[in-house]
Amino acid sequence: MGILSSMTGWRGRSGFGSASTAEEVTEGIDARNLTAIVTGGASGIGLETVRVLALRNAHVIIAARNTEAANAAKELILEDNKTARVDVLKLDLCSMKSIRAFVDNFIALDVPLNILINNAGVMFCPFQLSQDGIELQFATNHLGHFLLTNLLLEKMKQTARTTGIEGRIVNLSSIAHHHSYAHGIRFKRINDSIGYSNKKAYGQSKLANILHAKELSRRFQEEGINITANAVHPGLIMTPLMRHSALLMRILKVFTYFLWKDVPKGAATSCYVALHPNLKGVTGNYYVDCNEMGPSALAKDQVLAKKLWDFSDELVKSAAKP
Ligand SMILES: NC(=O)c1ccc[n+]([C@@H]2O[C@H](COP(=O)([O-])OP(=O)(O)OC[C@H]3O[C@@H](n4cnc5c(N)ncnc54)[C@H](OP(=O)(O)O)[C@@H]3O)[C@@H](O)[C@H]2O)c1
Repeated sequence: MGILSSMTGWRGRSGFGSASTAEEVTEGIDARNLTAIVTGGASGIGLETVRVLALRNAHVIIAARNTEAANAAKELILEDNKTARVDVLKLDLCSMKSIRAFVDNFIALDVPLNILINNAGVMFCPFQLSQDGIELQFATNHLGHFLLTNLLLEKMKQTARTTGIEGRIVNLSSIAHHHSYAHGIRFKRINDSIGYSNKKAYGQSKLANILHAKELSRRFQEEGINITANAVHPGLIMTPLMRHSALLMRILKVFTYFLWKDVPKGAATSCYVALHPNLKGVTGNYYVDCNEMGPSALAKDQVLAKKLWDFSDELVKSAAKP
């Protein structure tokens, strides 16, 4: 799969391509035994992902910082699908306190957890620190999801063990992972405003999403755990994500209009990787247009993946210290 297939909608080995919608790639799948969390499920790709998972009968929890918008999204889904099982829980990925509270509230629901879609994200923000003092794009897109995943892992493992159903973790990355800082992650200068580039910081966070899935996958395989972890690039879709670069994106779209998708197509790869039986047992990969694709050399670097894991772990621990 490449630019040509993205332009033409040519279907790859999976039988799907850039023109496939989330409904199409999940046609005939019955997910009634599955519970999924979708972060940032109140808008854009996340909202369509929630809608289609619910259409396939999954119980879906929208994890959103704006619960008013998430409840409105839920109502919208229920208008067309009266039996949809959708719940809303508050989650602000820029705050470790909020992440821990979300997990406590989720555990209190006493439901299984089969699928975690780490979808929420921000893009091209001006330099800013999160509530825990971490550069905002890294904090939201990677570190928040790193902590969230770790806190939910025991529940996912337990669900996989007791049900025998494979768990799946899907990290929303981006083709922008190719455009990070030199050496990938600015480990020594993660919170440094000097040399900060809003574009490279986004690329860095999206590189981190792939490395996170890769290291999770290695750990699951080593421990013999029945959970997979993969990363996806959803395509180019005009969504509220572009709020910090609306003009730039509109100009870019004029020249690259043939590469852009609408939201139903934009949610296809997430839904495919989360639900499709083709991917049973398949882990540690990167998907574009519902087909496996090689990511950048840095994203394939297992040593970097381990280093990022240890670094993220340290950041979480140091933020927890009084
Ligand atoms: N659209 C594209 O072309 C494209 C391309 C490649 C990758 N992606 C990736 O796809 C994912 C979804 O993006 P999208 O295009 O659907 O954008 P979107 O509509 O802006 O969705 C992002 C969601 O993340 C939420 N979010 C942001 N910060 C958060 C925080 N601190 N805590 C909790 N939720 C937070 C947003 O909530 P608020 O409404 O409250 O801000 C929003 O619901 C992102 O990870 C993005 O990087 C998108």
